Amino acid sequence: MSDMKQTLLAIGCLFVAGNAAASSAGEYMAKISDCVACHTTEGGAPMAGGKKFSTPIGDIYATNITPDKTFGIGNYSYEEFEKAVRQGIAKDGHPLYPAMPYPSYAKMTDQDIRALYDYFMNEVPAADTKNKDNEIPLLLSARWPLHVWNWLFVEETAPENKTGQPTDLLARGAYLVEGPGHCGACHTPRGVTMQEKGYDASSAEYLTGAMIEGWYAPSLRNISMSRDELKDLLRMGRSQHDALSGPMSEVVTQSTQYLTDKDLDAIAFYLLNFNHKNGVPVAADGAIVYAPTDGKTLYSMYCSTCHGDDGKGKDFTVPSLVNNTVVNAKDPSSLISVVYQGAETPQTHGNISFKMPAYKEVMSDDEMTNVVNYVRGTWGNGASQATKDEVSAIAK
Ligand code: HEC
Ligand code: HEC
Ligand code: HEC
Repeated sequence: MSDMKQTLLAIGCLFVAGNAAASSAGEYMAKISDCVACHTTEGGAPMAGGKKFSTPIGDIYATNITPDKTFGIGNYSYEEFEKAVRQGIAKDGHPLYPAMPYPSYAKMTDQDIRALYDYFMNEVPAADTKNKDNEIPLLLSARWPLHVWNWLFVEETAPENKTGQPTDLLARGAYLVEGPGHCGACHTPRGVTMQEKGYDASSAEYLTGAMIEGWYAPSLRNISMSRDELKDLLRMGRSQHDALSGPMSEVVTQSTQYLTDKDLDAIAFYLLNFNHKNGVPVAADGAIVYAPTDGKTLYSMYCSTCHGDDGKGKDFTVPSLVNNTVVNAKDPSSLISVVYQGAETPQTHGNISFKMPAYKEVMSDDEMTNVVNYVRGTWGNGASQATKDEVSAIAK
């Protein structure tokens, strides 16, 4: 084969690898668990060790977890691997620093840990990269408090009880976010001993937002976007109204872009559930049917940043909706059209134009009806309520 052909083939493969689903169950789990994020340095061999973590007692480095028998984990048995990943205990018995998110991995099923082990032993190329020395003085004596830490915060359930795979969409979403996805490692605030303040939805502080490496990882409990937008963000790092940056864009590149559509559905379902206190029905075929959100909530989610909580807008840029003729017109069609397709002030001499976004991709007809009626019936506006048929007519 000519060099040219070989190059083209290699590029083709790269391209496929970037988009295609992972080739084995173990590779998929490794991607969803984002092992590579910490265990690889820039330019270094995959999984050959890497990221530095500054701890109150000194710097620590993620280790070589390729199957190399001298420098990696090639001599780990399945039992030893399981103990490291789910319980935070290395082969030689020393407790791992909790930068390694084993309190989350503790929730992973036997089946997934087994698949991971097979992947690391058989599919990851061995690399003879020596581990960096941890820069912690008196390493051994500094490590012993970790035993206490483990005892306090790592789940008690015996790992051998974790068999089977959750099938229900909500349970699958919870599993992916709380377990392999370890989303709380960045999105949950940490307490004095570095533990996350909660590792699942039963804790009120779980996923309520935290500072991480100078970035703010926002609360995932009040995400105000549609399911499809959330899925787009996790799949591509951008969506109609949003784009991700910093550590989260790495999470997307290395991990969430590989999620299957079904697993993305499950994660979106689980996260958006925090927002829908009244419960969200799931259709029998597993498709998600959201209960429409009420008008007041929709207004504060989508409109209040520009038009204000009081509906008064901003002088010269955003019109007031109070006593507004479009809002209070007997026929709600113009109001519905503005919300449906957006609007723009005319550009005239000396005036730049201001834009109002379109909401046709964001809200269902039911929700559009709710927000329109909220605007028509608040701040002294007393217009009659629009019907869903009137909204659907404009949508057509
Ligand atoms: C957020 C960062 C992070 C992620 C993600 C992560 N690790 Fe780690 N891991 C570490 C750090 C840091 C250490 C070293 C801890 C120490 O030395 O106390 C470590 C240590 C280990 C060890 C012990 C290795 C040894 O040298 O004895 C194993 C095994 C391991 N990780 C496997 C995994 C696997 C498998 C995944 C994915 C399922 C993973 N890690 C994901 C940070 C991470
Ligand atoms: C390494 C740290 C880290 C991990 C792990 C992480 N995130 Fe993030 N995430 C962030 C940061 C930082 C931001 C803010 C990024 C920005 O503002 O562009 C963010 C933003 C987000 C957003 C956008 C929120 C909004 O309202 O705009 C979503 C959604 C999200 N993360 C979901 C997840 C999910 C789901 C997981 C687990 C699969 C996860 N994150 C794991 C750090 C992380
Ligand atoms: C990014 C800022 C922004 C957001 C968000 C926004 N608007 Fe607007 N809105 C504007 C601007 C600017 C105009 C003026 C457009 C024009 O003159 O045609 C406008 C015009 C309107 C009008 C027409 C008022 C008139 O007098 O012609 C209505 C009604 C309206 N918005 C309602 C809403 C509702 C309801 C929402 C939420 C679903 C919303 N807007 C979200 C900026 C915004």
